[in-house]
Amino acid sequence: MNMFGIRVTFQLIFVYYLLAKSSWGLSPVILIPGDGGNQLEARLNRSLVVHYICSKTSADYFNIWLNLELLVPYIIDCWVDNLRLEYDNVTRTTHSPVGVEVRVPGWGNTEPVEWLDPSHQSSGAYFNSIADSLVSIGYVRNVSIIGAPYDFRKAPNENQEFFIKFKSLVEDTYNKNNKTSVTLIVHSMGGRMALHFLQLQTQKWKDQYIRRMISLSTPWAGSMKAVKVFAIGDDLGSRMLFESTMRTQQITCPSLAWLLPSPLFWKPNEVLVQTDKYNYTINDFQKLFNDMELPNAWEMKKDTEKYTKDFSAPGVELHCVYGYNVATVERLVYKAGTWLDGYPALGTGDGDGTVNLRSLGACEHWRKRRGRTTLNGGKPVKSLPLSNAEHLKILHDKRVIDYITTVMSN
Ligand SMILES: *[C@@H]1O[C@H](CO)[C@@H](O)[C@H](O)[C@H]1NC(C)=O
Ligand SMILES: *[C@@H]1O[C@H](CO)[C@@H](O)[C@H](O)[C@H]1NC(C)=O
Ligand SMILES: *[C@@H]1O[C@H](CO)[C@@H](O)[C@H](O)[C@H]1NC(C)=O
Ligand SMILES: *[C@@H]1O[C@H](CO)[C@@H](O)[C@H](O)[C@H]1NC(C)=O
Ligand SMILES: *[C@@H]1O[C@H](CO)[C@@H](O)[C@H](O)[C@H]1NC(C)=O
Repeated sequence: MNMFGIRVTFQLIFVYYLLAKSSWGLSPVILIPGDGGNQLEARLNRSLVVHYICSKTSADYFNIWLNLELLVPYIIDCWVDNLRLEYDNVTRTTHSPVGVEVRVPGWGNTEPVEWLDPSHQSSGAYFNSIADSLVSIGYVRNVSIIGAPYDFRKAPNENQEFFIKFKSLVEDTYNKNNKTSVTLIVHSMGGRMALHFLQLQTQKWKDQYIRRMISLSTPWAGSMKAVKVFAIGDDLGSRMLFESTMRTQQITCPSLAWLLPSPLFWKPNEVLVQTDKYNYTINDFQKLFNDMELPNAWEMKKDTEKYTKDFSAPGVELHCVYGYNVATVERLVYKAGTWLDGYPALGTGDGDGTVNLRSLGACEHWRKRRGRTTLNGGKPVKSLPLSNAEHLKILHDKRVIDYITTVMSN
C-alpha cells in the first residue's frame, strides 16, 4: 500500500477542487463607481485659458481627474476650467469648453476604477481593496472582475451610451465566465446608475444575467450634500482644496442636480435652506436656484427629474450596505441679515457623512409586500447598516471586505 500515493491523490483532488471553485463556480463581478470614482483623461487645444500658466495644448490625452500634480494652487484654476461643463439650454445638453476633449479610459478594465490616479497614490485608492480581496479568493482582473467607468459629471440623460454598452458588457462577462450570472458591486452614484439600468431590463434578462447586486453607500433618494455643494462647493475632504474653487466646476455637473434630495423621502414641510427672508423646502428648488443665481441648475434638475421619479425595485437580489452614525449635512442655515451668498451654518443629522440615512436606507422600501410577493418580486433585499462606515472609507472597511468575500465565495 502506498500511503504517499494516496496522500498525493488527496492533495491533487484538493487542488482541483480549489481550481474548480476559483475559476468555475464564482459569479463574475462588474464594478460601477460613484461620482468621481474613475479616471478621466483630457486633451487640450485651447485658444483661451483662465491664467497665463495654464497649458493651452497637450500632445495627447493625459490623466486629469484627481491628478495630484494638477490640484495645487493656481494650476487648480486651469484644472477647474478644463473639467467644467457648459450648459446649452436649447439642446439641454452639456459640453466641454471649446478646445477641451474629455474621455473615459479603460472600459471593461479594473484599473480606472481601482485607482483614480494612475500612479497609484494611496489618496486615489478606490475599488482596489475590494478587487484585491476578490483576487485572493480566486478572481482574475479583467476576466472575472470588470470595471464600468463613465463620465460621472453627467446624468443618465447624457449617458445613454453607457446603458447600451453596459448591457453588452454584462452579456460578454457572463459568456466569458462559462455562462455564470454576474454580480454588480456598485458604490454611491454607481448604485443609481445600476438601478436605472436594471429598471430598463426585462425580468427574464435579469434572471438570466444578474446574480445579485451589492450596493455600497447608494444615495437611493438623493442627498442634502448636493444642495450644500450647489451653495458653497465641496473640498473633497482635502485641506489643500478650497470649496469655492471646486464649486466653479461642481455646479456645472448635471449629475449633481440628479443627486438632489427626492420628494419621495423628504416631507414638504421640512426646511432644507433657512434664511431670514425665506425658508426653502423640497418644493422650492426653482426659487432656490434662481435666488442663488444658478438658473442652469434648475434646468439640469428638470432634465434629470425623469431619472428620479421611478423608484421601482431593481428586481434582483440586493445587498444594501451603508454607514450611519457619521454627521451628515441636513440643513443650511444662513445667519439673519446674510443672504444666499453668505456662508451658512451646516445643520447635521445621521448618515455616512455624505448621504443622509433615510436615503441610504431607502432600499428597505423594496422589502415591503405587494399582494403575494414583495416590491422586489420576491428577490431578497438584505441590508447591512454599519456604524461609522464613512461614505468613501467604506470601500476599504474590513467589515465590508469580509462581507463581500463571504457572499461571493458561496
Ligand atoms: C461550466 O459550467 C458547467 C455547469 O455549470 C460545468 O459542468 C462545467 O464544468 C463548467 N466548465 C468550465 C470549463 O468551467
Ligand atoms: C487646434 O485648433 C486650431 C484652431 O483653433 C486648429 O487649427 C488646429 O488644427 C488644432 N490642432 C489640433 C492638433 O487639433
Ligand atoms: C438660455 O440662456 C440664455 C443665456 O444664458 C438666457 O438669456 C435665456 O433666457 C435662456 N433661455 C431659457 C429658455 O432658459
Ligand atoms: C487589464 O487590461 C488593461 C488594458 O488592456 C491592462 O492595462 C491591465 O494591465 C490589465 N490588468 C490585468 C491585471 O491584466
Ligand atoms: C424659517 O424657519 C425658522 C426656524 O423654524 C424660523 O425661526 C424663521 O422665522 C423662518 N423664517 C421665515 C422667513 O419664515
